[in-house]
Amino acid sequence: MARQAYVNGRYVPHGSAAVHVEDRGYQFADGVYEVVTIVGGRMIDEEPHLDRLERSLRELEIAMPMSRAVLRMVMRELVRRNRVQDGLLYMQITRGVAPRDHKYPGASVTPSVVMTTRQIDFTAGAKFEEGVKVITIPDIRWQRCDIKTVSLLPNCIGKTAAARAGAYEAWQVDADGMVTEGTSSNAWIVTKDGTLVTRPAEHAILNGITRLSILRIAEEEGIAFEERPFSVEEAKSAREAFTSSATSFATPVVTIDDRTIANGKPGSLTQRILDCYLDYCRGLRQSGTAKGQPGKKARRAS
Ligand code: PDD
Repeated sequence: MARQAYVNGRYVPHGSAAVHVEDRGYQFADGVYEVVTIVGGRMIDEEPHLDRLERSLRELEIAMPMSRAVLRMVMRELVRRNRVQDGLLYMQITRGVAPRDHKYPGASVTPSVVMTTRQIDFTAGAKFEEGVKVITIPDIRWQRCDIKTVSLLPNCIGKTAAARAGAYEAWQVDADGMVTEGTSSNAWIVTKDGTLVTRPAEHAILNGITRLSILRIAEEEGIAFEERPFSVEEAKSAREAFTSSATSFATPVVTIDDRTIANGKPGSLTQRILDCYLDYCRGLRQSGTAKGQPGKKARRAS
C-alpha cells in the first residue's frame, strides 16, 4: 500500500496530501509541530510530546483540534497504516484557513491537522561511532524559542550553513557568547570533571523531549549534571560534547568549528548516555520523562 498522510480527518495518499493556500501555517508560519521517534513500531515519549504540543498550542492561543485521546488514536493509526518500524511521525497543527490578515481570526476557524510518517534507519552512517562536526553561528531567532512553531527559517539558514561547512549541525550562540541550542537539537558538553552541562529550559531554547529523557537518565545513573549556559570557548575545551533530538538521539560532537574536542573521538560519558537512551527506546529500561519533567518518578514506557 502507498504511503499515507493524515490531513484534516482523512487518510490520503502521501503524494496528493495538501492543505488550502490560505492556511495560516503556509502564509504566516502560524502553527506548531512535533516530531516523534518510532523505534520497533513504538512511539518514544509519546505523552511528553503531546504535553509539549498542548503547551505550544496554548501559548499561541490555538485550540486543541481534537481530544488528546483521538489525536493519539490518529497517530497510532497512521503508524499502523504505513507499517513504520523505525522512523518518525511528524505532526503539524496550524491555526487554520482564513482570509489573509495578520491578526488572529475568530474562534470559528478550525485548526488544520496534518500528520506524516517516514521510515528512517537511525543506525545509517557512522555518526554514533565517529561523532560529528558542529559549527557555531549567531542565534538570530526570536525570544520564544520554547514554543515549537513551524517558523523555522533561521534554523533552515543555520542548518544549510552547517551542511555547506561539512558539518552535521550548527550550534547557535547568543549575544553573550553562550550557546543556546542547535538548529534542530539541544547542545551538551561534559566538563573536565565529568559534569554534564546543558542550557536551562527557558525562552531561549526548545525544551527537547530527548533532553528531558537524558536528564532523567543522568539522574538515574548518578551522573552529575548542571543546567546552565556555557560559552563557545568552554565547549571547545570541554572533555566531551554531544547534540540531542528525537532523530539524533545523543550524537557525539568531536569538532566545534575548527577545534577538535579532546582526542577527536566520541567521549565515554556520551557513549554511556547514548547506550542508556537506546535501551530506553528499545523498551529495555524503565526510564524517561515523567510528566515531561526530570526529577519526578520514572514510569514505564508504554
Ligand atoms: N527538532 N531544539 C530545536 C530548535 C529543535 O528543533 C529540536 C527538535 C530540539 C530537540 O527536541 P526533541 O528532543 O524534542 O526532538 C531542540 C526536531 C527533531 C525537528 O525539527 O525535526
